Amino acid sequence: MKFFIDTANLDEIKEANNLGVLDGVTTNPSLMAKEGISGGDRITKHYVDICEMVNGDVSAEVIATDFDGIVREGEALATLHKNIVVKVPMIAEGIKAIKYFTDKGIKTNCTLVFSAGQALLAAKAGATYMSPFLGRLDDISADGLALIEEIRIIYDNYGYQTEILAASIRHPMHIIECAKIGADVITSPLKPIMSLLSHPLTDKGLAQFLADYAKGNE
Ligand code: G3P
Repeated sequence: MKFFIDTANLDEIKEANNLGVLDGVTTNPSLMAKEGISGGDRITKHYVDICEMVNGDVSAEVIATDFDGIVREGEALATLHKNIVVKVPMIAEGIKAIKYFTDKGIKTNCTLVFSAGQALLAAKAGATYMSPFLGRLDDISADGLALIEEIRIIYDNYGYQTEILAASIRHPMHIIECAKIGADVITSPLKPIMSLLSHPLTDKGLAQFLADYAKGNE
């Protein structure tokens, strides 16, 4: 399973990348705004900075919601860096644009997916990645992980190559459950990724080993 980090914060991207397990980055307009990045040129530069830090796919989201606008923005984003994946919302014009990008060999990430039907359409259009937002489903008392399971079955039934990119991750158990289901990728904020590291018995065991080593070398 690939690990992407879901942030536009360069320090967090650096920290995850330094761990050596990072396969890519996802961003969205809200994450950019959170870092105070606004305006076309600054956003563009930020995408390039991220691409130069990480050896993997970097999702950059279009703002347009009409076919021509999505295509124009997406083609411009794709020329920024070889790592760019054009992130397109799950709307009719978006599906048309994903099909267009697929035919042109431009990688896409179909975002804001909340149902199996939407996931099926994204795969039919040839999306490289399809992002179901599991935390936001959990937030409204629906079952985000059940949706990932359903999509895994559908994609496997037909051998769709579109990768399931589980997004809107809230905690480490989301990551573990996605791995059990067979999601291709998770994209997570830094904290749930770092939380995978921790276990009190690891800390206790290491402290004991170091203490015993020190005693033996007194
Ligand atoms: O990649 C999608 C993700 O950013 C959404 O996460 O936490 O805003 O639901 P969240």
